[in-house]
Amino acid sequence: MADWLAALDRRAELRAKAGLTRRLRPRPADDQMTDLAGNDYLGLATHPEVTAAATAALSAYGLGATGSRLVRGSTDAHRALEEDLARWLGTDSALVFSSGYLANLGALRALVQPRTLLVSDAHNHASLIDGCRLSGAETVVTPHADVDAVAAALASAPGRPAVVVTESIFSVDGDLAPLARLHSVARRDGALLLVDDAHALGLTGPAGAGAVAASGLAGEPDVVVTATLSKALGGAGGVVAGPAEFVRHLIETGRTFIFDTALPPAVAAGVHAALRLAQASDDLRAELSDRVALAVGRLRAAGLTVSAPDAAVISVTAPGPEAATDWAADCRDRGVAVGCFRPPSTPDSRSRLRLTVSAGVPRAAFERALDVIVDSAP
Ligand SMILES: Cc1ncc(COP(=O)(O)O)c(C=O)c1O
Repeated sequence: MADWLAALDRRAELRAKAGLTRRLRPRPADDQMTDLAGNDYLGLATHPEVTAAATAALSAYGLGATGSRLVRGSTDAHRALEEDLARWLGTDSALVFSSGYLANLGALRALVQPRTLLVSDAHNHASLIDGCRLSGAETVVTPHADVDAVAAALASAPGRPAVVVTESIFSVDGDLAPLARLHSVARRDGALLLVDDAHALGLTGPAGAGAVAASGLAGEPDVVVTATLSKALGGAGGVVAGPAEFVRHLIETGRTFIFDTALPPAVAAGVHAALRLAQASDDLRAELSDRVALAVGRLRAAGLTVSAPDAAVISVTAPGPEAATDWAADCRDRGVAVGCFRPPSTPDSRSRLRLTVSAGVPRAAFERALDVIVDSAP
């Protein structure tokens, strides 16, 4: 075996010894599993209006965008989606990317000027971490949700441009960042606030407009919002929303926008249909919070260590990586799909099951799934 492949084999063995192997599993089209692992929070991925809108655009435009929007042109599907995203989020403008990951990379790169300091929460998603790294800016990582530490980091760089970078609902533990307080310390020092609203869009705020809107920060000139269109909107793609001048800057200079084939028009059209449904889904949001409360109560009553979720992500601590893997496998064998998060995909050294609650799962199946998780706990 070639040396480099032997080296990869040794690294795979080390991961296996640490209980950190990752394996792809097949997912049939008629999957019967109860899904507490995906992010289709409102069950819109398979909604008939969503699939019909995507199918119509698929027939009209074909499978892919066939190039970037600057090269191939910007379709009505992209324009209409962006206009409604901006209206929903309460910002001047919005720009769609082909994934939430690329939206974060693009937004961070575009926010950085010479001497910019980025102040990034320790629990931030990998796409924000990579965005900070790729921007080339000096980055201070502050303890999770620690507003004083953010203020101290900003104070340590007087006169320098700065951006405070945070998720709203954190993707592993499901807790909400102190957005209003972060904004006020950022504003005091003339810094910007970048919020990744991925796990709140469609779930919290007025008509599901997200946690930035819920915190009264929508449309503030020093706030930039990013989100993925792949969670409550059930599709794919990402968005950066903020002042019109910033969106123009992204269109003209954003490398992950310019040098990336655009989001397929069919996906843009499907996501647009999902957006309209999500806005009108207060009933599903109420059902979700009811289910989250039920799950937390039931799991805690069984003696499990459970996070305090502010939306629909629940984290349940496992004794270690192997125990987490076995627990998730037991759940799967009994028809329940759960997320199994182990280092390095966790912000600390703890392994967990990550449950994502979806209003699209039948209520009885959801309640049975809780029983399965409790019964198979290590
Ligand atoms: C907080 C957060 N930001 C960004 C992303 C990336 O979005 P996408 O999957 O659309 O690339 C994810 C997960 O997928 C996420 O959880």
